[in-house]
Amino acid sequence: MPLHHTPEFNFERPDSSPKNLFGSAEKKIAAEGMSMDRVKLNDTLELSRLVYGMWRLGDDADTSAGHIQNKIGACLDQGITTMDQADIYGGYEAEEILGNALTPELRNRIEIVTKCDIVAPVGRYADAKVKHYDTSRAHILASVEHSLRLMKIDHIDLLLIHRPDPFMDHFETGSALDEVVASGKVRAVGVSNFRPWDWDLLQSAMTTKLVTNQIEISLLHHAPFTNGDIAFHQMHGQPPMAWSPLGGGALFQDESLASLRTALTAIAQEQDVDMGAVAVAWLLAHPARILPVLGTNNLDRIKRIGDAAQVQIDRETWFDLYTHALGREVA
Ligand SMILES: NC(=O)c1ccc[n+]([C@@H]2O[C@H](COP(=O)([O-])OP(=O)(O)OC[C@H]3O[C@@H](n4cnc5c(N)ncnc54)[C@H](OP(=O)(O)O)[C@@H]3O)[C@@H](O)[C@H]2O)c1
Repeated sequence: MPLHHTPEFNFERPDSSPKNLFGSAEKKIAAEGMSMDRVKLNDTLELSRLVYGMWRLGDDADTSAGHIQNKIGACLDQGITTMDQADIYGGYEAEEILGNALTPELRNRIEIVTKCDIVAPVGRYADAKVKHYDTSRAHILASVEHSLRLMKIDHIDLLLIHRPDPFMDHFETGSALDEVVASGKVRAVGVSNFRPWDWDLLQSAMTTKLVTNQIEISLLHHAPFTNGDIAFHQMHGQPPMAWSPLGGGALFQDESLASLRTALTAIAQEQDVDMGAVAVAWLLAHPARILPVLGTNNLDRIKRIGDAAQVQIDRETWFDLYTHALGREVA
């Protein structure tokens, strides 16, 4: 008998969880000779284990529809079908850049994640007096309509509340999220940058289950492995998404990370991949079923994002990299 009977707790390994540190028994889709794990978030939504992030889409010198289609095509060739957006990306313009590139055929092959609640005084919110968060029903409903219109789609696959709102009325926010799911405009809802208590507060006022929390996790930002964030989602069987898995590029530049780079490079050479793939594989190896969200704009790098899924990281290798990241051995 388990000690507790709370139905939300996941005492048993979910069917889709990894059976060992090297890979998983998750459903895979084959694409051009490669296979990519898929992670089931609820009865209707499955994401690719690696996700392509579109925060920097508007920073690319080329934002033409053809170039965006090439980027998405390079992802699809590797089985990466999930695209991560947010209303605020590119000063509220990145969703439209994607929308201009989406053909009906392409849209049907991908899952679109987007986010709302950050109101910065730029673009359509240029009149805002101060940057703030808005988790009111009116803002969530309006934001969903903007996202659907800009991306020229009839539903969002996954909507996330982008940042915890210290002024949140959880009853209002929770019922607004239930409402957008019931309307069919959003297939599933989750959060981003939430701590466990923020998650519990919002979930307590909802009928729909939150399916994921997108948080910063990487060798440069490893606190979630010990501060309770990953433990919380692992216990509940909710795979977290990891933003900036390469530290937003700092992994390749920071002087303080030289020894970590040396360790990553040695593994990369052994396994014939690049250093970044090993850093992402370090996240994939963890039993919490983390979904890394990669943000490169470089087409050659996009074509190799899937390499991370081929890298083998055993327990000692995982701890070796963790030791370099910590700058000391574990106690
Ligand atoms: N929920 C949130 O609050 C939140 C916050 C931040 C980000 N995100 C999501 O996470 C996604 C990923 O974030 P991110 O872009 O910071 O992730 P990232 O993959 O850690 O970093 C991407 C950056 O690293 C650089 N880079 C990658 N490989 C490199 C290499 N081999 N050598 C040198 N530089 C390299 C890229 O430059 P190139 O483009 O030149 O390759 C790019 O500037 C975003 O697009 C967004 O979807 C979410």
